[in-house]
Amino acid sequence: TMALSGTALAQDYPTKPITVVVPFSAGGPTDTVARLVAEAMSQDLGQQVVVQNVGGAGGTLGAGQVATAPNDGYTLLLHHIGMSTAPTLYRSLPYDPLTDFSTIGLITSVPMTLVARKDFEPNTMAELLDYVKANGENITYAHAGIGSASQLCGMLFMEAVDTPMTTVPYQGSGPAMTDIIGGQVDLICDQTTNTTSQILAGEVKAYGVTSSTRLPTLPELPTTREGGLSLEIGVWHGLYAPAGTDPAIIARLEASLQKALTNESVTTRFAELGTYPVTAAEATPEALTQTLTSQIELWRAVIEAAGVYAD
Ligand code: MLT
Repeated sequence: TMALSGTALAQDYPTKPITVVVPFSAGGPTDTVARLVAEAMSQDLGQQVVVQNVGGAGGTLGAGQVATAPNDGYTLLLHHIGMSTAPTLYRSLPYDPLTDFSTIGLITSVPMTLVARKDFEPNTMAELLDYVKANGENITYAHAGIGSASQLCGMLFMEAVDTPMTTVPYQGSGPAMTDIIGGQVDLICDQTTNTTSQILAGEVKAYGVTSSTRLPTLPELPTTREGGLSLEIGVWHGLYAPAGTDPAIIARLEASLQKALTNESVTTRFAELGTYPVTAAEATPEALTQTLTSQIELWRAVIEAAGVYAD
């Protein structure tokens, strides 16, 4: 019967490589998290866990592809806070993040940093706020599309200074960071995963971190609050399968994810990048569903107040 074959499938799972879709370009923070976790999960599962970058539309293109993928456990989605903002930003979103996916577990929490090309004029957060108010749309702000974390942070920043800048979209904040370092674009608010090493190497100018306290990896960097800017945002990553995936397969992936988050090479690299792995209790379907549900509500109110929509 179907049930028997289903159970048999789950017992042997995985019997072939697994694809994890990252809905942003290679080289960005989401991709970095995914490749570290995928490598550790590959070792645990005995099958290659392969990252596939599907950029576009602020992450909604890649997420939409997984929503309609076969629910056999061989196509997964690794996404971030954008899973909770897209339902409000996109009024014609082709998927429902809550009903079109099976949650597997939370993965990380990641602060964001406001950084600029290294010869950008302002040197402190206070100077940045004055400079943005004075120069507005003559400043270019890079982001990874409407639905990305960098776009969300930029929207909050422009709200806080009540001044629009000229926004420049990329397929991910990997390529955006290349242009910040190259001086082609002025400013970005990006996850520490993608900025810590650039800040420490003096490749970019940093103004503040969006966490409530300073980071051990960047002790010199003030918080946005210290700099007089009320902008606190924490990015979180989650792992998903298409809705209807066999619970036994979800349980196998959940166990593998929890193991990956205590894997020495993952935790060491995360620590260097100011990226915080969640506890095993949070790397669960229930915790991810709870976070996703509450974040959808939280950001719906914020986005509707800002009146920023993609369509
Ligand atoms: C974002 O801004 O949402 C991410 O940084 C995109 C990415 O991971 O490239």
